[in-house]
Amino acid sequence: MTNPSQKFGIYIHWPFCLSKCPYCDFFSQIKKNIPQDDIINEYISDLDFYHNLTDNQKVTSIFFGGGTPSLIKPQNIEKIISHIKNKWKCAEDIEISLEANPNTNHKNMFSELKKAGINRLSLGVQSLNDEDLKFLGRTHSSKEALAAADDVIRTFDNHSMDMIYALPHQNINSWRQDLEKITGFSFKHLSLYQLTIEDSTAFYAKKINAMEENKAIEIYNLTSDFLNSKGYEHYEISNFAKNGFEARHNLAYWEGHDYIGVGKSAHGRIGLLATTHCRNIENLTPEERAEELLIMGLRLENGINKRAFFDKTGIAFNNFVNSQKVQNMIKQKLVLDGDTRFKLTKDGRNLLNYVLSEIFG
Ligand SMILES: C[S@@+](CC[C@H](N)C(=O)[O-])C[C@H]1O[C@@H](n2cnc3c(N)ncnc32)[C@H](O)[C@@H]1O
Ligand code: SF4
Repeated sequence: MTNPSQKFGIYIHWPFCLSKCPYCDFFSQIKKNIPQDDIINEYISDLDFYHNLTDNQKVTSIFFGGGTPSLIKPQNIEKIISHIKNKWKCAEDIEISLEANPNTNHKNMFSELKKAGINRLSLGVQSLNDEDLKFLGRTHSSKEALAAADDVIRTFDNHSMDMIYALPHQNINSWRQDLEKITGFSFKHLSLYQLTIEDSTAFYAKKINAMEENKAIEIYNLTSDFLNSKGYEHYEISNFAKNGFEARHNLAYWEGHDYIGVGKSAHGRIGLLATTHCRNIENLTPEERAEELLIMGLRLENGINKRAFFDKTGIAFNNFVNSQKVQNMIKQKLVLDGDTRFKLTKDGRNLLNYVLSEIFG
């Protein structure tokens, strides 16, 4: 087993989708005749470039994200994985995840992905209700999503499901019923995102509103309590896992470990270097990195490890935050400030943006 405190991840971003969902502001293009083999060769060359900066690291996770990376041919997935394994030392228990859309599912897709080296499949179901799927502009039905979910569970030992909830019209009781169905699948990991309305999306242009705030807090607390009662740990604001099945790759971001990314709009962090696609490299100041570590770390149930914060930035955590405001938030029972860790309370989780504005204020 790899020491879970040491992580180094590689992110491969596939920026193409079959259609654009009206809520989504992730970078993605709808394009016919994609020169897939050429793009994969560019990725391999970018990986070689980043290898020169990270050849002493042991890879603990690879993540194929998007866009819709289940559109990549399995032989190209295999090509990338074996290239990484040839270049870097890799952990024996390396986590290799891929995000799949139910609308790209075809016979044998999941078993081919498994043969190609994927050992963790994250399925974008989004909703189990056909009307909500239509509202979300998804091009698959709930029946197709359920069939894909069955297939994923049969094929992989490690799996995750993405869902979007807190839709503006959503009824809390019907969401409770959805939670019953979701947990019935026994996915090891669940990513449940409250719908956000992002600038530059079709939902924003259509003036669709997010769920009213008090109702969103109520549905969030219900979700957390319900999943806890089914044995899922609420280890990050939007993520729940059975014991030992936390998403190791995402933990690398939230805990502030190094990672590299290739593909359009992918980015990386190597110490104080910030990298973006096309091999751009910028130097972050220790304060900029400290700010990132704070924003990311507060998302975690375990919060921020003050020792690791210092090791990565050279700045003592207690000197970085506004101690007067922290004291106020301790009194308001929004944060817990221990000798080694700083974290949100359950109430604080509902007010993450407020806590951040106070800390930086
Ligand atoms: C980068 S997307 C890729 C997933 C995959 N292409 C799919 O559609 O299933 C990752 C996840 O972000 C979530 N997401 C994207 N936009 C969102 C929004 N505006 N509000 C809430 N969740 C969102 C969705 O659950 C989605 O599965
Ligand atoms: S949600 Fe997924 S399928 Fe939809 S546009 Fe975003 S990345 Fe593409």
